[in-house]
Amino acid sequence: MKLSSIEFRAMQSPWRRWGQRTVELPLFRSLGLDVRDKDVLEIGCGSGYGAFLLNRLGPRSYLGLDLMPEQIERARQKYPGYRFEVGDATDLSGLDDASFDVVIIFGVLHHIPAWRTALNEIARLLRPGGSLFLEEPRGVDLRLFEALFRWGHPQSDFGLRAMEAHLGGLGLIIFRRLWTPLLTMYHIRKG
Ligand SMILES: C[S@@+](CC[C@H](N)C(=O)[O-])C[C@H]1O[C@@H](n2cnc3c(N)ncnc32)[C@H](O)[C@@H]1O
Repeated sequence: MKLSSIEFRAMQSPWRRWGQRTVELPLFRSLGLDVRDKDVLEIGCGSGYGAFLLNRLGPRSYLGLDLMPEQIERARQKYPGYRFEVGDATDLSGLDDASFDVVIIFGVLHHIPAWRTALNEIARLLRPGGSLFLEEPRGVDLRLFEALFRWGHPQSDFGLRAMEAHLGGLGLIIFRRLWTPLLTMYHIRKG
């Protein structure tokens, strides 16, 4: 689902970039993120700062997808050397099965009411032995945050327990998990 205008503005802030650069990416790396010479897909890439961080690590290829054309337009303007496309995580039929080594998500599934369908698509796109790195808030924190700040997150049954149960049915194995006060971070592997 598209972001509300308040969240859209927050996602463009220097604080968001600071968090991605100094906290989230290093934590993903501590969980085993290694994109060197890998084919990488970022889902919900926003205005492209994740692309900037990931491309510095030497992937073989990088594709950033986001539902919002205005995010992709910004990403293309800021980082013209990287590949960005408008795309919906719940329908990635334009991408071949087993075409990525690494899929990465910086806080996006809780924006997708049909998040299970997005995970099904990711399972299809990953190569055997490939890795999914994702970070998401707990459902309870999401509801509290929404009550306090009203960012307009979609109505959804998203929660970490439900997500973990769904992953199991897709043959995606939780390899490492790290709780932080805002987000829980995962390294998930396709067996
Ligand atoms: C909270 S923002 C995070 C953006 C960026 N990953 C970051 O960390 O700054 C969530 C992003 O997911 C995108 N999004 C929401 N639903 C989506 C979907 N179904 N498919 C792809 N992207 C989606 C939104 O447009 C938004 O850019």
